[in-house]
Amino acid sequence: MGLATAAAFARHGVPTFGYDVVPERRATVRAGHAPFHEDGLEALIRGEVRRGRLTIVESLEELARRASVIFLCLPTPPRSDGRIDLRPIRAGARQLGRALAGVDAFRLVVVKSTVVPGTTESVVGPELRRAAGKGPDQIAVAASPEFLAEGRMVEDALHPDRVVVGVSDPRAVRLVESLYACFESPLLLMAPAAAEMTKYVANSFLAMKISFANELSRFSEQVGIDVDDVARGLGSDRRVGRRFLDAGPGFGGSCFSKDVQAFVRSARDHGVRLRLAGQVMPVNDEQTRHATSLILREIPGTGRRGTAAILGLAFKEGTDDLRESRALPIVEQLAARGVSVRVHDPVASVKFRAWLADQKPSVRRRVTVAATVDEALDGADVAALQVPWPEYLAWSRAWSKRMRHPVLVDLRRAFPIERAKAVGLRLVRLGDGRASVEPPRVPRARSAARTSATVGAFARPTAVGPEAVG
Ligand code: UGA
Repeated sequence: MGLATAAAFARHGVPTFGYDVVPERRATVRAGHAPFHEDGLEALIRGEVRRGRLTIVESLEELARRASVIFLCLPTPPRSDGRIDLRPIRAGARQLGRALAGVDAFRLVVVKSTVVPGTTESVVGPELRRAAGKGPDQIAVAASPEFLAEGRMVEDALHPDRVVVGVSDPRAVRLVESLYACFESPLLLMAPAAAEMTKYVANSFLAMKISFANELSRFSEQVGIDVDDVARGLGSDRRVGRRFLDAGPGFGGSCFSKDVQAFVRSARDHGVRLRLAGQVMPVNDEQTRHATSLILREIPGTGRRGTAAILGLAFKEGTDDLRESRALPIVEQLAARGVSVRVHDPVASVKFRAWLADQKPSVRRRVTVAATVDEALDGADVAALQVPWPEYLAWSRAWSKRMRHPVLVDLRRAFPIERAKAVGLRLVRLGDGRASVEPPRVPRARSAARTSATVGAFARPTAVGPEAVG
């Protein structure tokens, strides 16, 4: 987030300085490389470093001296009670405060990290000023949450839907306005706590939208319809919107689950019970168990001792990030049922191996990381599409032949139905009950007259003209 933000400011022409406590990371970025996989980020960084608009400095002192607005992009990891761990951000604020002690000019420190309402003004500001030995007239604070999504970081950082900044100091307001003048995005100014809350609300709402679609997907399977038709019908209402209504194996990623839990917890700490948001995580976990059950169902016999191939390990396409990826509980749940699991991902295998090394022996011995898709599919009873990487969608007949039973459980409904037919693959689509489910039973009408009236009201008109509309 820090890197994408810095690169975006640089691209918009703002002289930008970056610092990270890890020396290797500073060296990587200074050499024009991205320290993780993210489409387009490396090219952006390389360009801006070469042009001299993005400079990686070797100390916080230098950063504090050269930049008038300083963004704190520090992690706020979850604690076991759902609250966020403020230690990294407190420590960062103290370190920056000490560096600011030697600066004889007004500085604005903007908290980019996701923090619960009140943190910027009641924790970060006081830590900074105490360490610097200065007052609010010399160090102002603001909260500006980040809305960029992995896999589309560059686009989101360069052209955000909106920039939200919570700031109260009038000098800081002017600074923020001039800084963001180079972005064409709307700038929404508000109180710091409102900006902080906006981030939690945005992620919780999106997660809730997905959970809503996920529950619909289970219902759709049972009534023999495709959830995507319903999502299309619902999402074309501009008040709702189609995005984030894609049912799947449950949402993953480092942000949604952490933020939903911290949001609910923070409200509870203020005596408010958020019932809707409180159900988002249980629904998500249930959906992942449902995804596993769809895979198990395709393994002949009891589902035990079969072999399943999981294609795609990242929490979504376009990234090698495994954090909270649904692939992890799916692999664990299958292994717990005695299934041998072969996994494949074009970019996330390295991280998966590290995750696997920390698992119980009962999981480790049942899971193999395959180097190729062929290897993953060899003799498998079922394959599951967990991330729709393009190479999986270009499935060949040879792959179907490698499997003991050529069945693909498409957890994302991304695999082309026509292609499945062409390559001899049986396709089971999560959220789509059309093929695998009996037609819904329609209750019998009590009389013939009632039946025809019902048909008259809903049948497609046979002739065009107002008199034919039922
Ligand atoms: C999310 C938000 O989308 C960003 O706006 C936010 O800035 C970011 O968290 C953050 O707080 O840092 P991200 O976690 O990168 O971004 O990924 P998303 O694209 O939101 O996807 C999250 C998960 O939801 C993925 O597992 C994805 O597969 C799943 N998803 C998404 C669905 O299952 N259905 C959908 O319709 C959309």
